[in-house]
Amino acid sequence: MHIIDGRKIARKIEKEIIEKSQHKKPHIATILVGGNEESELYAKLKEKACRRVGFDSETIRFHEDVTKEEIIREIKKLNENDEVHGIMIQLPLPEIDYSEIASAIDPDKDVEGVHPCNMGMTMLNREFLVPCTPLAVIKILEHEGVDVKGKNVVIVNHSNIVGKPLAAMMLNRNATVSVCHVYTDNLAEHTSTADIIISGAGVKGLITDRHVREGSIVIDVGIVKEGEKICGDVDFDAVKEKAGMITPVPGGVGPVTIACMLENALRAYEIRKS
Ligand SMILES: NC(=O)c1ccc[n+]([C@@H]2O[C@H](COP(=O)([O-])OP(=O)(O)OC[C@H]3O[C@@H](n4cnc5c(N)ncnc54)[C@H](OP(=O)(O)O)[C@@H]3O)[C@@H](O)[C@H]2O)c1
Repeated sequence: MHIIDGRKIARKIEKEIIEKSQHKKPHIATILVGGNEESELYAKLKEKACRRVGFDSETIRFHEDVTKEEIIREIKKLNENDEVHGIMIQLPLPEIDYSEIASAIDPDKDVEGVHPCNMGMTMLNREFLVPCTPLAVIKILEHEGVDVKGKNVVIVNHSNIVGKPLAAMMLNRNATVSVCHVYTDNLAEHTSTADIIISGAGVKGLITDRHVREGSIVIDVGIVKEGEKICGDVDFDAVKEKAGMITPVPGGVGPVTIACMLENALRAYEIRKS
């Protein structure tokens, strides 16, 4: 069994970004709503990552009673500002429809790949700016030398930012894909035949050794906070005895997701300058 080191993969991606981005300095703006401790933490992690590769970043903070219209006004200003190359919205957004906010971002500055145009391009196998977590899953598998073509991939998550785009990206690479969610009857029946399981339910211990077949690849996207500790969907200690490869939480998909955001930011910058 091999434990996948997400931090090592992220460092490799960041090193490649530094090499590719000489004399290029993308500027990324993040919109953060409310005083949510976790959102602050993620925004800081992204700012730190930008500094590591020499990108500029700023966080624009709004009080939690901000209106949708005010956020969209700010996004329009950022869209028109030639000094800004990438725009991100830190989730969660209290009481505000995320899809309307995502649709306001200039698709060429959409470093999280959430604008309907970018989602559509992904569906059409013309991937340009794709959501960072699905991209991280793809990068991890590529790094580990796993070709998904013809593989039986089971995704446990059907959200717009994880499961749906990931399913499209897997189909683009000719995997055979099943997507499970909270209404899926007998989850183990699906996951236990998979070559690759990707779970992002945010439910601690959802995937046990009973859900996994011998030698399969298990990618844990879930993040569950328990006091000061963070864990994923997968019962790591039990599943690692059966899986061929497994990502830990923390230190798995998370760091690679941030590195993928940097990669998207560089792509967005290059588009503006070309
Ligand atoms: N590692 C990273 O970089 C990263 C990045 C983004 C998100 N995350 C984490 O990934 C998880 C998913 O994020 P998200 O934004 O996609 O969350 P989300 O919108 O809440 O989606 C969760 C998905 O899991 C499904 N689900 C929930 N409970 C389930 C169960 N018991 N059995 C089967 N399916 C179940 C949900 O189905 P229904 O919609 O039918 O309820 C939904 O499709 C969260 O833990 C989040 O913190 C990690």
